[in-house]
Amino acid sequence: MQTVTTINELRQYLLPHRQAQQKIGLVPTMGNLHQGHLNLVSAALDHSDIVVTSIFVNPLQFGPNEDLASYPRTLDRDTEQLTKLGCHYLFAPGETELYGTNSSTQTLVQVPELSRLYCGVSRPGHFDGVTTVVSKLFNIVQPDIACFGLKDYQQFIIIESMVNDLAFPIELIGVEIAREESGLAMSSRNNYLSPQETEIAANLNRVLESIAAQIQQGARQFGPLQNQAIAELDSPGMQPDYFVICDAHSLLPAVDCTTHFAILAAATVGSTRLIDNVRFQLDSQ
Ligand code: PAJ
Repeated sequence: MQTVTTINELRQYLLPHRQAQQKIGLVPTMGNLHQGHLNLVSAALDHSDIVVTSIFVNPLQFGPNEDLASYPRTLDRDTEQLTKLGCHYLFAPGETELYGTNSSTQTLVQVPELSRLYCGVSRPGHFDGVTTVVSKLFNIVQPDIACFGLKDYQQFIIIESMVNDLAFPIELIGVEIAREESGLAMSSRNNYLSPQETEIAANLNRVLESIAAQIQQGARQFGPLQNQAIAELDSPGMQPDYFVICDAHSLLPAVDCTTHFAILAAATVGSTRLIDNVRFQLDSQ
């Protein structure tokens, strides 16, 4: 695997692949790779000839009181894992390479409405940072396909919307959530949890699954179900942020005739904010 840190160098490496009509796949990440990330790289290898994984802890998507400084940076171990998997290029630019010396004057790409819901409420500006860096990576790499995890389902829907609105000629592939045995969705932020907090954190998925099961068995009182979930999550070790039952495409609150559901949840365990979701489709009657 070739590690590349500048935009120009990456473009030079990719040009012959493009000229040879090879299909290029991109996997954007912030590093500290776990099985969830590696599954994205495997999916990209399955769907393209040349895979570029990017590692960039994107300052634009962190709020002023968030964990930008302490976010785990494990480039050597990440490089080893990507090499073993057969990834072709690692793009690991520094902040100045992507944003120059003043990221506050950076042009922003913004998906309205969807970016203001749910995680966008507690993390103002977060999704603008995500769509800005992802569109910049799309322009640099010009991939044919790009893989994203369904763990960040709101992020996936927002990026899908951006790709449609701005006519990026890129096929998006959503990859299923990788979980620990307890059901806890894998995340770089799980590193912050103590063993006791890790146990408490697994409750997020348990409650999501239990509400999904009730809807699959016919429950349609979405408001009371959401309240029930919040009450089940709220405990000395966990503070729920939101729990919403919504339409899987629009992310708007589910209604009686909704058939494709996404239930999205966020909660803080100790000082760590976790997100998770479940998605399912009801058979049309
Ligand atoms: P990061 O949190 O590093 O995640 C990179 C990719 O891995 C995202 O597409 C995310 O959805 C996926 N991912 C993380 N945990 C996963 C899991 N348990 N199962 C499946 N996929 C998982 O998401 C970001 O970085 C950033 O916002 C980024 C898109 C790179 C823009 O900076």
